[in-house]
Amino acid sequence: MILPANDSGAVKWQSPSNIALVKYWGKRPIQIPQNPSISFTLSNAFTQTSIDYRYDHMLKDGPKIDFYFEGKEKPAFAKRIIRFIESLKDTFTWLSHCHLHIDSTNSFPHSSGIASSASAMSALALGLCDIAQQIEGKVWEETVFLQKASNIARLGSGSASRSVYPDLAIWGTHHSFQGSSDNYAMQYSHDIHERFLDFHDDILIISPKEKSVSSTIGHQLMENNPYAATRYDQAHKNLEEIVQAMKANDMDSFGRIVEEEAMTLHALMMASKPGYMLMQPNTIAAINTIRAYREKTGTPVYFTLDAGPNIHLLYPNDVAKNVHAFRESSLKPLCYNHTIIEDHVGKGPKKLV
Ligand code: PMV
Repeated sequence: MILPANDSGAVKWQSPSNIALVKYWGKRPIQIPQNPSISFTLSNAFTQTSIDYRYDHMLKDGPKIDFYFEGKEKPAFAKRIIRFIESLKDTFTWLSHCHLHIDSTNSFPHSSGIASSASAMSALALGLCDIAQQIEGKVWEETVFLQKASNIARLGSGSASRSVYPDLAIWGTHHSFQGSSDNYAMQYSHDIHERFLDFHDDILIISPKEKSVSSTIGHQLMENNPYAATRYDQAHKNLEEIVQAMKANDMDSFGRIVEEEAMTLHALMMASKPGYMLMQPNTIAAINTIRAYREKTGTPVYFTLDAGPNIHLLYPNDVAKNVHAFRESSLKPLCYNHTIIEDHVGKGPKKLV
């Protein structure tokens, strides 16, 4: 038996959510994306996860996991977390001999309808990789550590693979991006115009309700979607073009692709068998309001959507003053309880303990 370098300890990581500009939608086993994607890493919307571990040689059928969310047991989420950690026993053999006490909190209200899986799974993956270093008595170089964490995070939730990096991250193999991989994401801030490195993303909460169709089912429905092959080609092309646009500070092309991606994601849902819709009437009202304001004023402000009804309002910092006035007067009334979460491109995860 290999003795652990440390047999107990604690780690704590903060990891942000991210918003995809070119979307990942459709996968094959195990969590391999059908097309590459790129996202802005966010800042204010994050999860903090602490993990206390204790190695116990007598324990053979571990890990034994207690999971708390904001100090309380949350069985539905715990089930997913436990299944995910169990699936890592071949990668981290020490897990079978470990007791883990996990406590997780989100910076955003849980009833806000913000998908928390990217921040939650990336925070957990970073924590587990950190424990792996302590138990195995190793220190990986930062790039190696982050790549391992991205790989592990991907197995928990595909989009989580991108959250471990600052600024922008690409996940999924694309012939134009050297080092891109289906297994893990990579940072991509190289040569990107500075206007995109502090971009705003205000999350307009249109509805806080849980989605009627989960992302897991949504990905599955892509398997029989008649437009799937065309979509995967489009994503490859859009990734190449949006990166070019961000390098050249070509705001119009950036905005055109971002909105095309959001509309395509929801069109794919509608064209699934069975078709479904996650947009709400106020999602459409907000989209029309944003487009009308942009046409009237020439302000570079755009929208994107995740797999849900909420709008992500994207704009560069140099137009923030005008956009804020517009947002307060014209978009806030469309939001549930007037809820808007202000966020922006961020610097990635932080180790807290
Ligand atoms: O990571 P998942 O399985 O929750 O899927 C996320 C899919 C989208 O958020 C809709 C797009 C993306 O690339 O983040």
